[in-house]
Amino acid sequence: MNGVKISAVGHYAPAAILTNEDLEKTLDTSDEWITTRTGMKRRHIAAPDQATSDLCIAAARDALQNGKIATADIDCFIVATSTPDYPFPATACIVAAQLGATGKPAFDMEIACSGFIYGLTMASGLIRAGIYSRVMLIGAESLSKIVDRTDRSTAILFGDGAGAVVLEASAENSFLSSELGADGRRPEMLCLLGGGSRRPFTAESLAAGEQYLRMEGREIFKFAVTKMIESTGIALRNAGLQKSDVNWLIPHQANRRIIDAAAKYLDMPDDKVIVNIEEYGNTSAASIPIALSEALHAGRIKAGDIIVFVGFGGGLSWGAVTWRWA
Ligand code: ACO
Repeated sequence: MNGVKISAVGHYAPAAILTNEDLEKTLDTSDEWITTRTGMKRRHIAAPDQATSDLCIAAARDALQNGKIATADIDCFIVATSTPDYPFPATACIVAAQLGATGKPAFDMEIACSGFIYGLTMASGLIRAGIYSRVMLIGAESLSKIVDRTDRSTAILFGDGAGAVVLEASAENSFLSSELGADGRRPEMLCLLGGGSRRPFTAESLAAGEQYLRMEGREIFKFAVTKMIESTGIALRNAGLQKSDVNWLIPHQANRRIIDAAAKYLDMPDDKVIVNIEEYGNTSAASIPIALSEALHAGRIKAGDIIVFVGFGGGLSWGAVTWRWA
């Protein structure tokens, strides 16, 4: 048995909602601009006392309940996030302990919005190599905590949430292929400049806003469309699949126009592309598992369906995974 399948999925989004109309009140922006340029209408925002681990735990519990799986049966916990509770320790350690799994291995993966795609590849590899039988992979973010609410070019884009999947060993293999990549020549294109070892926080760096996410939006846009197309093409080729074999495209939800451009090139009609950007905005590593969870709850995905998961983000980084739903 060296296959892997996803046996449970869940998600969580904080209750508080920030609408385009709310943003109109504090920024020089409009519902019309945000809707036409991004497809976003609302974002869910973590409460002041909610950290990323809290979102992870709620999503993990939803997945465990949906799959009727006991925490004790999970061998390893992975959290993909760029907004951990602390720079260290890993958020996954906190999550595992809170779920009652103290002693189990737990670690974070920090590869921005590509985190879930990288995590899916990593977790599938651990299972197929026979190292673990069940891995919980959570993509989670509290991006509202690192967004400058006065910067209209980023404040409109990001939201909070978490999606969790349980992967387990299986006779049938769902993981068909993966294509991952990174280009770190210009990390500042999309980054949190301050607080790391290169630019530790000082009174000056805080006054300069280095605690906030910054982004070269136009450049990222071009990169995103190119990489979504290229990466999907390579992953399909690696799996021996044609575009016409794909039942569902589940892309990272960064911008409706990026998704539409990639879907058009891949000949994917709207009804085969899972999009929930209107409700959540960009939740980075959480966006793909939340979209998967919602699509499953809506009964859209059936056994045997071929899914392409594809994403891109800070690093810069990108990746696509092809998956046959079990
Ligand atoms: N409201 C109104 N006007 C705005 C806003 C706003 N919220 N934001 C920018 N503008 C203005 C700009 O100032 C500019 O004005 P100008 O022409 O007078 O200079 C104009 O609108 C056009 O700005 P652009 O930046 O060219 O707008 P664009 O169509 O590229 O949309 C956006 C901007 C939405 C950021 C787009 O570039 C984008 O989505 N880029 C990709 C971002 C992304 O995917 N980031 C996440 C990566 S994942 C991760 O790792 C976190």
